[in-house]
Amino acid sequence: MCGIVGYIGKEQAAPILLEGLSRLEYRGYDSAGMAVYDQDRDTLSVHKAKGRLKVLADQLQNGAAVKGTVGIGHTRWATHGAPSDVNSHPQVSQSGKIAVVHNGIIENYGELKSFLMGKGVSFLSDTDTEVVAQLIEYFYQGDLLKAVGQVLHRIQGAYALGILCADYPDQIIAVRKDSPLILGYGDGCNFLASDVTAIIKHTRRVGYMEDGELAVLTREGIQCYDRLLEPVDKEISYVDWEIDAAEKGGYEHFMFKEIMEQPQALRRAILPRIREGEVCFEDFGLSQDYVRAMSKVYIVACGSSYHVGMVGKYVLERLTRRPVEVALASEFRYMDPIVDGSTLVVVISQSGETLDTMAALREAKRLGAKVLSIVNVVGSSIARESDEVLYTWAGPEIAVATTKGYSTQLAVLDLLALWFARVLGTVAPEEYHTILDEMTRLPDKMERVLAERDSIQYFASHWFNHNSIFFMGRNLDYALGLEGSLKLKEISYIHSEAYASGELKHGTISLVEEGTLVVALGTYDRLFEKAMSNVVEVKARGADVLALTTESHSGEMEKTADGVMTIPDTHELLLPSLGVVPLQLFAYYVALMRGCDIDKPRNLAKSVTVE
Ligand code: F6R
Repeated sequence: MCGIVGYIGKEQAAPILLEGLSRLEYRGYDSAGMAVYDQDRDTLSVHKAKGRLKVLADQLQNGAAVKGTVGIGHTRWATHGAPSDVNSHPQVSQSGKIAVVHNGIIENYGELKSFLMGKGVSFLSDTDTEVVAQLIEYFYQGDLLKAVGQVLHRIQGAYALGILCADYPDQIIAVRKDSPLILGYGDGCNFLASDVTAIIKHTRRVGYMEDGELAVLTREGIQCYDRLLEPVDKEISYVDWEIDAAEKGGYEHFMFKEIMEQPQALRRAILPRIREGEVCFEDFGLSQDYVRAMSKVYIVACGSSYHVGMVGKYVLERLTRRPVEVALASEFRYMDPIVDGSTLVVVISQSGETLDTMAALREAKRLGAKVLSIVNVVGSSIARESDEVLYTWAGPEIAVATTKGYSTQLAVLDLLALWFARVLGTVAPEEYHTILDEMTRLPDKMERVLAERDSIQYFASHWFNHNSIFFMGRNLDYALGLEGSLKLKEISYIHSEAYASGELKHGTISLVEEGTLVVALGTYDRLFEKAMSNVVEVKARGADVLALTTESHSGEMEKTADGVMTIPDTHELLLPSLGVVPLQLFAYYVALMRGCDIDKPRNLAKSVTVE
């Protein structure tokens, strides 16, 4: 949902901004722009272009056409105002003196715009962001920080802002509320960015801005202030992953690279948390007494993270015998949820910035629940506002469609379920150790699945031209089907739906006709016979069936299905961890054959920081 970056230093700013934006492009790719202070002309030089970042980069000869050592840049996912040159950021005040880049939404922009128009201010764009630039200028009487402070008391909504003013050529102002923004501390230069990937090439020393904070960046340093403009000290953190983690490393797409990285990501998520045959979470504040008193668990998340929650419900209920509800974060705060002090709310988010998930977290806390989050991005808003955090340690995930994010979230949730079950005494010690043991084998088994990718590519070549694809499964296979279907539709643009197999006969089977592709999930041993019956049923209506099952059942499945994707056997509760990989690969290869923009599917953005 829009990426912003800022640089102040001694180097030329434009190439640094373009490079930073290229790493943020996954956050939005409708248009891009930058403003750089041009010392010779004592003015801001502003450049914007609709389309991918490449359009802007070409226009600016990769930055060589723009002179200046301080600037702000933006890559946009449009909310207010269609993608166009004029609606691109930076948005500039009437005099051309003040430029603003923004990630978020200014909710009361209509009212503020009317107020400013009443004062004679004329607007060029349809954006909410232009209101911020114009309002700063309206209040500006020579003290930029003061004017920004006044604006913050009037705007409502979510924002991460980068502000550049021609009267202050040696500083950038950064502001944050409910949208991510980090500060980067360099040597004779400083940065701001929506996330670490944009600046890691230049510095590993970062500061996480708090809600309501402002920062003034100069070449010499960064000074932060609270909303009353009182100076605050900022703790500096050190980013410990390498730049390669955010690069394609020879792969054609980030998505494929991230699919292939999953075994290693699982090792990082699982192995350090198993010690002497026991689940062990370090720095974990949930006491055993708390767990014993816990009346229910609510899992709250969006999209694929919600699908992890759907799998988690089966695992947690089976192991802990405690009721588990799973809610879409976008619904949670509007559904009057039954939550109290004995409810544990587990919030799942790869980015740690999803606005709906954040709002659900706050609602859960307001209702008195404890919030435990499962998050990938260290220092993200959700991680910082939760009572407890379990990081997934998947490393940066750049492709818009999540893969290693999903797998590691699921692994951490499985470990959590095991730990709860051990504390509650609801799992037999033998089964507990079998599952743990199997978890340590998951990375190797996943490598075996990945090694079979050619067969999945073959299936994709057979069915990539279909316009509608159904996924069906029962229990854990149903939860897995939800993810398989989402993966396919978001990157290949094929209409797809996932059903609990038993539901087909209650309506959907009327859509199955000669040649319809049904992806039948039958990994779950105890329901395998039922899965087979459903395969026979849809075959009888003319469907093509691509099945997913385990090695022990593949022979039987091959007798009926038109294609079979096979995963190694493992403990039944862990099957989705392996089963998701062929589904990711299938979606990937189908999208590849359809010529889709796999890493940046249309209309989507990686981190959804608007409601
Ligand atoms: C789908 C996908 C999205 C995210 C969802 C939540 O491939 O990536 O559905 O899962 O937007 O994002 P996070 O987990 O960052 O809160």
